[in-house]
Amino acid sequence: MKRKDYYKFTEKKVNLDNVDQVYREKFVLAGIDNPDVLDAKIEDIGDSPVCIPGQKDNLESKDVYHYFRNNMKEILGDGEGFIFFGPKGTGKSSLAGLILKAVIIYYKKNINVTFVDWIEYLGQYFYNTWSGKPFDVQSEAKAWIQKNMKEAKLLVIDDLGKSKRNHNSVVEHLLEVINYRNRNNLSTIITMNISLQELDQKYDDEHDRLSDRLRQVNLPVGFLGESHRLEQSKELLDKAKKRFDNLDQEKNNSGKGNN
Ligand SMILES: Nc1ncnc2c1ncn2[C@@H]1O[C@H](COP(=O)(O)OP(=O)(O)OP(=O)(O)O)[C@@H](O)[C@H]1O
Ligand SMILES: [Mg+2]
Repeated sequence: MKRKDYYKFTEKKVNLDNVDQVYREKFVLAGIDNPDVLDAKIEDIGDSPVCIPGQKDNLESKDVYHYFRNNMKEILGDGEGFIFFGPKGTGKSSLAGLILKAVIIYYKKNINVTFVDWIEYLGQYFYNTWSGKPFDVQSEAKAWIQKNMKEAKLLVIDDLGKSKRNHNSVVEHLLEVINYRNRNNLSTIITMNISLQELDQKYDDEHDRLSDRLRQVNLPVGFLGESHRLEQSKELLDKAKKRFDNLDQEKNNSGKGNN
């Protein structure tokens, strides 16, 4: 049955012009539950300036998106990925989410992909379930990690640099996941607001430099420019100013009324 007929048949009110809506459930199941990322559109957020070593210097984040879209099969086939790094609020997570959504749409939902917030992930799977919990819960967590972190065709690790949890077992776990993925040609996108050097200092390993592993197969993309959250806070200030002006106006008017 064609998708259109299916929606007619089940009487689901889905706007087929908006393909994102059709796949929304899968986006959420893949881990994209932040509304900012879930609703991001490349037309709205693709103008963030980015730089890639060895490339011309007037690139925008939409160029990275189209680079991925145009070469998706080859990139995923070879297990290539990206490292998005740069200051807060510059659009890294939004772009990573858009790429993941593009993969889901292209493969019509039948692909194992995962988006994890690194801090949430460590709390939920690494610490909470692995310490002091019954064995069946631990094995559930391990099975989840195997399927969704190790074997996912595309894994986004969002905000890798942010967690303060960087002791040995976390570093080992991260290396285990990354090594497994590299060996099996599985693509990974890392977002972080620290540099690769800082990543090495943070996840220091005696034998292995994490950044070397990551750089082998992941294209580094530096996000430049100001935080878009600042723009949003300026918008909020403008809105608040208008509201206070209106209040003043109302006060003045009621003051006049009293006279
Ligand atoms: N090019 C853009 N123009 C306007 N708004 C944008 C643009 N890119 C992203 N945004 C908006 O800016 C906010 C921050 O974006 P995002 O969360 O992707 O940034 P980030 O780089 O991942 O930040 P952090 O380092 O804090 O995780 C979001 O609300 C997003 O919708
Ligand atoms: Mg982010």
